[in-house]
Amino acid sequence: MCGIVGYIGQKEAYPIVLKGLKRLEYRGYDSTGVAIIQEGNLQVHKKKGKVAELEEAVVGKNMHSHICIGHTRWATHGEPSDRNAHPHLSNNGRLAMLHNGIIENYAQIKKELLSKGYTFKSDTDTEVLLNFIQDIQDNNKSTLEEALRIALKRIVGAYCILLIDQDDPETIIAARKGSPLVIGIGKGEHFLASDASPIIEYTKEVVYVNDYEIAIVKADELILKNLGNEKQTPFIQKLDMELAAIEKGGYDHFMLKEIFEQPDTIFDCLRGRLLHDQHQIVMAGVDNHIDALTNASRIMIVACGTSWHAGLVAEYMIEELCRIPVEVEYASEFRYRNPVIHPGDVIIAISQSGETADTLVALESAKEKGAFIFGVVNAVGSSIARLSHAGAYTHAGPEIGVASTKAFTGQLAVLSMMALKMAKAKGSISDERYVHLVNELASVPEKVKEILTDTSKIESIAQQYKGASDFLYLGRGYNFPIALEGALKLKEITYIHAEGYPAAEMKHGPIALVDENLPVVFVATKDMYYEKVVSNIQEIKARKGQVIAVATVGDTVLPTMSDNIMFVPEIDEVFAPLLSVIPLQLLSYYVGIYKGIDVDKPRNLAKSVTVE
Ligand code: M6R
Repeated sequence: MCGIVGYIGQKEAYPIVLKGLKRLEYRGYDSTGVAIIQEGNLQVHKKKGKVAELEEAVVGKNMHSHICIGHTRWATHGEPSDRNAHPHLSNNGRLAMLHNGIIENYAQIKKELLSKGYTFKSDTDTEVLLNFIQDIQDNNKSTLEEALRIALKRIVGAYCILLIDQDDPETIIAARKGSPLVIGIGKGEHFLASDASPIIEYTKEVVYVNDYEIAIVKADELILKNLGNEKQTPFIQKLDMELAAIEKGGYDHFMLKEIFEQPDTIFDCLRGRLLHDQHQIVMAGVDNHIDALTNASRIMIVACGTSWHAGLVAEYMIEELCRIPVEVEYASEFRYRNPVIHPGDVIIAISQSGETADTLVALESAKEKGAFIFGVVNAVGSSIARLSHAGAYTHAGPEIGVASTKAFTGQLAVLSMMALKMAKAKGSISDERYVHLVNELASVPEKVKEILTDTSKIESIAQQYKGASDFLYLGRGYNFPIALEGALKLKEITYIHAEGYPAAEMKHGPIALVDENLPVVFVATKDMYYEKVVSNIQEIKARKGQVIAVATVGDTVLPTMSDNIMFVPEIDEVFAPLLSVIPLQLLSYYVGIYKGIDVDKPRNLAKSVTVE
């Protein structure tokens, strides 16, 4: 987590860094800081709270400089506070450093430094690494770059760091392992950031720094080296992203904008791949590896959070349509439990950011064991995308709201196409059903648009239940993962406790929670389980629970037994999740708004979880 930005060039550096930090706040927002060098003097300004609070705190101060590094934090070591905010200063006061990641062996190094007389102002692992670098530099009489290289060889953990030295105001030194770093190349200037969003306004030419690389960045020079001090050739890529895509575009919140973008983002995801008229699906990543995918004796799906829920939907799709066994794994469990992986095993990795540490590390170890990795990723050029042998981007565009919405439906769209394509290649689906499902999938963008045309009912339900302390979300079959996703969305941005459960499982425990105060959201669209879900609803009503149903347009039964109802258009049950999730995203959004929560930046969360 944490967002980092740096600038060196002819322009005023602080405003560029400040603006960039605002764009990166989705990565963390519990404290903010910047460091600049003014006429040989290193200055650090930092503050607990969001970027705007730092901005206010430095009003009237001289922030003039052509070099600046900045940080927006998501706390790992040490509570959010002014003193734990980055950048940190070295004991000799000459170096300032900021860091995204975790130094796992910091305690041992800190002990060594304490015994040498070093003092620490913060509780962070970052300040330890910084003073470790200073110590090496002083002892070895080495350059800062050499000292950094030596320090990094001793470090266990993940990092992206930016480092400046008041004696060298012409250079920013950066390094990465496990946490992302992009460098934008301008004319006589360079931009550094955790992702491209702070850079896009100024240049489209970028270099994604690789793990174990150090960048020595001056206004008109970029040198990349590995930890063995060998120069690396920077691979310059052109960004395919517009500034408008990362701005709010008239909506009050990014989350709302992203919910409303879904007809377009799903359409973009299908475009050029789902050739509806020809009943064909073209996906280069799948086409080129169709044998590996369809001959797999099993497929493992590895992901976290919302992406894990997309994986669960894919499990239902792939097992039903392709008849290949699928296991869906939490990346954080998978990476530590020594899973059985044979060469050629297929792993589908799902990630919006492409930077989630647990997913990334799980994939690295599976890749070492010979697994074939297929990435379903949103962020182009991200670490997971680069680590995968093949993949398909979700093309949802930058997702800024912490709660994942359009990236989720993008993942479902990609996974739907994959499942259909694999089923067709494997011959496990009849031609008739294949054509029917291709047509149904093509209809999704329009149907999502229909759901979004009138949100007034959902707003009024949110108003009615905003005071509830718990929610239960229930669904069966394809709608079970959507019950989980609905509950996660509610927890994230309303701070209301919510649980998702398979509807039938409810009577094995959660039913004890039901009373007249408990809202129970049933995802109950018309599918093969419909009658059974209706019985589950009766069971809740018999215990006076408040039923809120997501139902198929035209359903005349559910309105008679629900306290509130949200309709979605009819669709084959395989693709029901793409529609039934939309009202649940909106319900969470409006409850969050009525409760006065900053839905784009809910407490304790970060968009990109780059620490384990
Ligand atoms: O970037 P990823 O898809 O790998 O992120 C995984 C989770 O951290 C993410 O889905 C998280 O659960 C979201 N906040 C959900 O809205």
